[in-house]
Amino acid sequence: MKEKVMLTGVRPSGNLTLGNYLGAIKNFVDRQDAYNSYIFIADLHAITSPQNPQKLKEAVYNCVAMYLACGIYPSKTIVFKQSDVLEHGTLGFIMTFQTKMGELSRMTQFKYKSLAQSKAGVDTGLFVYPTLMVADILLYNTSIVPVGKDQQQHMELTRDLAERFNKRYGNTFLLPDVYIAPVGNKILNLQNPLEKMNKSDNGDNKGTIFLMDDVEIAKKKIMSAKTDSIARVHFDEENQPGISNLMSILSKITGESFESIENRYKGKGYGEFKREVAEVVGNLLKEIQARYEKFNDKKLLDKILYDGACKAQIVASETLKRATKALGLN
Ligand code: TYM
Repeated sequence: MKEKVMLTGVRPSGNLTLGNYLGAIKNFVDRQDAYNSYIFIADLHAITSPQNPQKLKEAVYNCVAMYLACGIYPSKTIVFKQSDVLEHGTLGFIMTFQTKMGELSRMTQFKYKSLAQSKAGVDTGLFVYPTLMVADILLYNTSIVPVGKDQQQHMELTRDLAERFNKRYGNTFLLPDVYIAPVGNKILNLQNPLEKMNKSDNGDNKGTIFLMDDVEIAKKKIMSAKTDSIARVHFDEENQPGISNLMSILSKITGESFESIENRYKGKGYGEFKREVAEVVGNLLKEIQARYEKFNDKKLLDKILYDGACKAQIVASETLKRATKALGLN
């Protein structure tokens, strides 16, 4: 019996990106045998901004099928939907009350995303988003959370709140560690390598590779990625962010070190290098998409989600009971 728990989640967007895969899902897949593993679809987090209900349902199916296509085995990992386990909402509510306004206002994701909403008024969902994430993690006595670099601050808040609760009400929660991989923790937009590769890419999506992209289109996106005029394949995030980003993508997929990539491309141009990256990414997408078709079966996905929610709920309800007892609520 594996004792330590690994958990992560992804917001269902209808179209996961290479950034989601390399920054989080791949790290999870590579470790799923070593832990008692949970992966969920963060559909409650999705509704922090308005959603089309039918599209959201489809996006959830798409996300589960994509998890399986990326190598997650329901026989090894508990796969579930956040909203199926009601304890997430309840503990999220409780954890919000342990949190200072200042702590949530300081979150860079909140600052960044609320800017876009400021005219119409900022949703409270965006504000309390991190405390729901805290609940997601603490409910399962999680030891390790593989995520991309953009989630680091949320992970720090998780530890702070768990510690605060334990100090106030007695030892209730395990303090989780974050796992941010050294390579590929922040895949950048191919057209604007100063920004993160996002699901919503401003405009034409040329900067984002989606896992369901047509393979030839994805390759073209790599070939037309913004680079620089230094003309040397070298890892230097500050002065060569575009090339460094492509090196991270290549290295994360193949496992080859930056040094070895640099040595192979000494004296060679960017064209050849980009062709290799495009080939490697194209092959990855081909594999994922072939498996996706195999798993894109709603009956199968419903069964996986049902089984996963039943198993997850047993653990989540134990933790919630511990927390409500500590608070004097039962
Ligand atoms: P989300 O859906 O924005 O992203 C899912 C995961 O993908 C990582 N990621 C990236 N990594 C590297 N480069 C990129 N360009 C890139 N884009 C996204 C994210 O860091 C994340 O790990 N709040 C979370 C979902 C969530 C969660 C949780 C995660 C809810 N509760 C509990 C872990 C534990 C989110 O919005 O992820």
